[in-house]
Amino acid sequence: MVRFFLSMIVGISTVGSVYTLPTDPGHQIYLEAESSIAASIRDILIDNKVIGDVLDDFNPDYYLDISYPKFHESVRLGNDIPVKSVSDRPAFIFQPLTPLKPPTPRIKDTEDVFTLILTDPDAKSRDKPKWSEMCHWIITNLTDHTREPPPFLEPSGFPSLKYGEVEKYLPPGPPPKTGPHRYVFVLLRGHSTHVEAPKDRKHWGYGKVRHGVRDWAAENNLTVVGANFFFAQNVKQ
Ligand SMILES: *[C@@H]1O[C@H](CO)[C@@H](O)[C@H](O)[C@H]1NC(C)=O
Ligand SMILES: *[C@@H]1O[C@H](CO)[C@@H](O)[C@H](O)[C@H]1NC(C)=O
Repeated sequence: MVRFFLSMIVGISTVGSVYTLPTDPGHQIYLEAESSIAASIRDILIDNKVIGDVLDDFNPDYYLDISYPKFHESVRLGNDIPVKSVSDRPAFIFQPLTPLKPPTPRIKDTEDVFTLILTDPDAKSRDKPKWSEMCHWIITNLTDHTREPPPFLEPSGFPSLKYGEVEKYLPPGPPPKTGPHRYVFVLLRGHSTHVEAPKDRKHWGYGKVRHGVRDWAAENNLTVVGANFFFAQNVKQ
């Protein structure tokens, strides 16, 4: 099932141009396939309690394609990735899963601005999440369809918005004998020029176990539109 699902995901990255051909007889089929991808992503997030422990229930509007190019690793909704492969900031691209609006020109607004975060709800372990959540990364002022191969490129269409890291990338470093940790990337949409780093990485500064990005997003009026995650564990178990 997972393999089938992943082949669907790979599929969507190549069918984007279909969106601009609304008279294509295949169009409707693609749209239906995409809504089932969103439903499958949601199911996987629920099965792994990402929806629950980290996020409230939501319908994914975007697929978050995240990779660590140097080690040829991609984040695939719960795959295992060795800790040594995630030492550098990842590359990412996000793609809408829901049909784009008809191709009428429209002025971009702050709703087209995004923030990407990485959080660990399983610090110090999934059983004893006493440091949870740990904030690993916040990058903001991202615009729609931004591709992010390091080093950063200038985004187009938003000359006044400069994107950057609010919280520098802290590579995942699960301690020995703490089992697999879920490392969860979340894509948030909303006005982001005011966004500031949490007071502390631990508990995202909220001082309570399992508090983190949910609180921070609410405080900053940001809406969850996508998520992806991988598992990583210390080689010493
Ligand atoms: C986001 O953009 C605003 C407006 O250009 C800027 O003031 C702010 O510093 C930017 N944030 C980051 C993290 O670069
Ligand atoms: C969030 O939205 C509320 C209600 O619209 C507003 O009062 C508040 O100032 C906003 N907070 C931020 C950080 O933008």
